Amino acid sequence: MAQQVNNETTPSTPGKLKPDKPHHRFRIHPPHSRYTFICILLSAFLVFLLFSTFNPPPPSTTAPRRVLGDSWGGSHWERLVSKSTRRNSASNKIVLVTGSAGFVGSHVALALKRRGDGVLGIDNFNRYYDVNLKHARQKLLERAGIFVVEGDINDGTLLKKLFDVVPFTHVMHLAAQAGVRYAMQNPNSYVHSNLAGFTVLLEACKSANPQPAIVWASSSSVYGLNSKVPFSEKDRTDQPASLYAATKKAGEGIAHTYNHIYGLSITALRFFTVYGPWGRPDMAYFFFTKDILKGKQITVFESPDGGSVARDFTYIDDVVKGCLGALDTAKKSTGSGGKKKGSAQFRVFNLGNTSPVPVSKLVAILEKLLKVNAKKRVLPMPRNGDVKFTHANISLAQREFGYKPTIDLETGLRKFVKWYLEFYSSGSIKKGSSSW
Ligand SMILES: *[C@@H]1O[C@H](CO)[C@@H](O)[C@H](O)[C@H]1NC(C)=O
Repeated sequence: MAQQVNNETTPSTPGKLKPDKPHHRFRIHPPHSRYTFICILLSAFLVFLLFSTFNPPPPSTTAPRRVLGDSWGGSHWERLVSKSTRRNSASNKIVLVTGSAGFVGSHVALALKRRGDGVLGIDNFNRYYDVNLKHARQKLLERAGIFVVEGDINDGTLLKKLFDVVPFTHVMHLAAQAGVRYAMQNPNSYVHSNLAGFTVLLEACKSANPQPAIVWASSSSVYGLNSKVPFSEKDRTDQPASLYAATKKAGEGIAHTYNHIYGLSITALRFFTVYGPWGRPDMAYFFFTKDILKGKQITVFESPDGGSVARDFTYIDDVVKGCLGALDTAKKSTGSGGKKKGSAQFRVFNLGNTSPVPVSKLVAILEKLLKVNAKKRVLPMPRNGDVKFTHANISLAQREFGYKPTIDLETGLRKFVKWYLEFYSSGSIKKGSSSW
C-alpha cells in the first residue's frame, strides 16, 4: 500500500522538487492559480518528507506474508540461490528444504549439504517460538554454504521463481505449524501452513519442469485415539485428537490427489516425538530442562486412568537418516508441466524409535543429567489434543531403506543437555560450569 501511495502522490526522486520545473509551469497556468500551485507544492513536499522520515520497516523476519519483491528477487539474490544449489556431481541431488530454519529442517539441510547435494532453504521465520533460535540455526546453515530464502510457502510467485531459477530434483517439505496444544489458541495458523501452504507448494511442484520428487513431514499424531500398538502405516487414521493431527491427516489426503492427478512422487514421513540439540522450545523435554534449571515447578501429566503418558522419543540424527533414506529411495515424478504421464510413487513411513518412554522417566533422566531435582506437579492430562501413548512400528522403513534408530533416550538427552547448556551459556549458566 505505502509503495503505491508513494508512487502516485509523491515525487519518486527528490530532484523533481527542484524549482526549475515549477518555474516552467507558471507560464502555463494563469497567475491566480499561483496560490493553488504553492499549496500543491507544499503538500507534495510534506508528503515527501513524511515518506522519507518514516523509513520502510526493515525486512521483517516475523511477518508471514510479505509484499512481493520486498525480500527476494534481483540478480544478487538469484546468484545466492544458484550458488547454494550447486552440487558436487551430476549424481547428487538438488533439494529445496522448506522450514530450513526449523529443528528437523536445519539438521536435514546440513546433512544433505555435507554429502555434496545442492541445498536451498526457505523459511518464514514466524514467531511461534523464539526467532533468535531460528536465526542461530540459519547462521549454521549459512556457514555451511546454504542460503535460506526468507519467504512463505504460501507465496506461489516466490516458489515459481525458485523453480524457474533452479531445477530442483527433490523437495524436502518440513515447513509446518507444529504443536498440538497451540492449535486451540491459533487454529488458522495450522490451516495456513499445513493445508493452504502445502497446497501452494504442491501446485508449484506439479507445474515445475522437471517435477521434483517430494518427501514431507506428516506426524505420528495421525494415529489419534488408536489404542492398538505399535502403530503401523496401515492402521486407521481417521480419529485425530487435535487440529494439528487433522491438518497432517488432511495433508496426506491432499498429497495423494497430487500424486494421482499430476504424477508427483510423494513420500510422507510420520515423525514420532523428535528431540535433540537445536530442538523446539515448545516441546516438553526442552521446557522441562529450562524450568528445572530455573527451579520452576513442572507439570507432568498422567492419563485420566492414572497410567503414565509415554512417547516414542526419536533422536534427531536417527530421523535425519530416515529422511535421507526416504529421499534416496524416492522415484522420479512422472509428470511434466502439470500433465501426468504415468503413475507415480506414493509412500507413507513411520519414523520412530520403537521404545516408548513414560514422561516420568524422561523427567528422571533430565534430573540426573542436570543434577537438579525437579519440582513436579502431577496432574491428569487435560483433553487438549495430546494422546496418551505413541509407539511406532518401523518395519516398513527398515525394509525400504534400512532405517534403524540407534540412539536411546538417555544418550540423546545427554547430547541435548550439552547443547542446551552451551547455547544458553550467555545467560545465568556459565560455560564450563557443567561437567560435560
Ligand atoms: C509391523 O508392521 C508390519 C507391516 O509393515 C507388519 O507385518 C507387522 O506385523 C507389524 N508388527 C507389529 C508388532 O504389529
